[in-house]
Amino acid sequence: MAQLWGGRFTKETDQLVYNFNASISFDRKFYRQDIEGSIAHVTMLNRQGILTDSEKTQIIDGLNGILCDIENGSLEITEEYEDIHSFVEANLIDRIGDAGKKLHTGRSRNDQVALDMKLYTRAELLLVDGLIKELLEVLIHIMQENTETYMPGFTHLQKAQPVTLAHHIGAYFEMFKRDRLRLKDIYHRMNTCPLGSGALAGTTYPLDREYTSELLGFDSATLNSMDSVADRDYLIEFLSALSTIMMHLSRFCEEIIIWNSNEYRFVEIDDSYSTGSSIMPQKKNPDLAELIRGKTGRVYGALISLLTTMKGIPLAYNKDMQEDKELAFDAFDTVKGCLALFRGMIETITFRKDIMESSAKNGFTNATDAADYLVNHGVPFRDAHAIVGRLVLYCIDRDIALDDMTLEEFKSISPVFEEDIYEAISLKTCVERRLTLGAPGKAVMEKVIEAELEYLQQDFR
Ligand code: ARG
Repeated sequence: MAQLWGGRFTKETDQLVYNFNASISFDRKFYRQDIEGSIAHVTMLNRQGILTDSEKTQIIDGLNGILCDIENGSLEITEEYEDIHSFVEANLIDRIGDAGKKLHTGRSRNDQVALDMKLYTRAELLLVDGLIKELLEVLIHIMQENTETYMPGFTHLQKAQPVTLAHHIGAYFEMFKRDRLRLKDIYHRMNTCPLGSGALAGTTYPLDREYTSELLGFDSATLNSMDSVADRDYLIEFLSALSTIMMHLSRFCEEIIIWNSNEYRFVEIDDSYSTGSSIMPQKKNPDLAELIRGKTGRVYGALISLLTTMKGIPLAYNKDMQEDKELAFDAFDTVKGCLALFRGMIETITFRKDIMESSAKNGFTNATDAADYLVNHGVPFRDAHAIVGRLVLYCIDRDIALDDMTLEEFKSISPVFEEDIYEAISLKTCVERRLTLGAPGKAVMEKVIEAELEYLQQDFR
């Protein structure tokens, strides 16, 4: 047991209590941020005349040495320390002696952990954003290649109207684009520095909080020391954004599972992204897509856990808040893993364009267009709807598509039909005439793709 606070105690902590209270098994993850924060703190203490130049140099050299040794594997973060803050401080004192004991001047672990968690979360947010961007680049490529790949669009999982693969994938492009906007928004709102808030009420040392804020890449210092040590809103917002990302991935996975099924066969997941069955030799399963769908629950769980943890905490710091870490780290790692794997799966997937197209042909997806044809020839839409309904029934009885009917058959149901009906209800016509902004017609789709390519050129900030 190695603690920073033995002074006022007359008894050793019970071992089970110590273990229950300790956080080093998981907060070791942000050793880099802890050291980075300490270096900024010490730089400021020196600038304010609180530490001498020599103390500052010794401490910073010591901290850099610790960082270097952890990264090259020669210094192991062991569980004999209560948390990463104690580990770093104890190590520093071992290395440089008395100067190391001044590191914690004007600081509490409360503002220290608030800072570490924020720095870590900020870095993770940027990583997640980068992974979404990489996914968007794969999606836009699929869109560019498939502006004329016709497929059925569905409502209620029933064939509805024809669209293109570019259009369908484009819907996910929009979702992930919104996810990035959410991240950007959170980034700007969270980018304030809590360091210098002390335990809860600031400190009597003349700290320059704006200077440390600047050194650590924040936009400004926080304005209330109690809020600073008790705030985990940014983490809740990020977990909420991560939950939405997972919801999008999960919906996409669900579609891929359906499309990959023996009944649909719209896609074939690459062998390298599929798994087999231990008993059924013929099976090639979409386990990866199912796992991503499954892990969505885990990320939602992190959000709900943290919201619940925070809801009853009086100001300011309370130990409940230590519970933010394991769930957040798990959610961060889960989302990053899912984004990278999903990208690989969609990048290597084979789209069976012929099957998609024949599915669109055979599902009466052109029925609305047949009704529009009648409307264009003066039939009121409600009557046209009824006439085409009869056409569909006629075809279902004979197991044929609208396009397979002879002109006599069309005319027997409505004399308005002429030879040009075939052109009017061809898959190509049905799609290419849909030219409203956001619709699947190639001409408008290409404009959208152009705008998205421009968007991808923009910087995060
Ligand atoms: N391990 C603690 C946490 O994660 C660090 C802050 C400890 N502060 C305290 N007053 N016990 O929240």
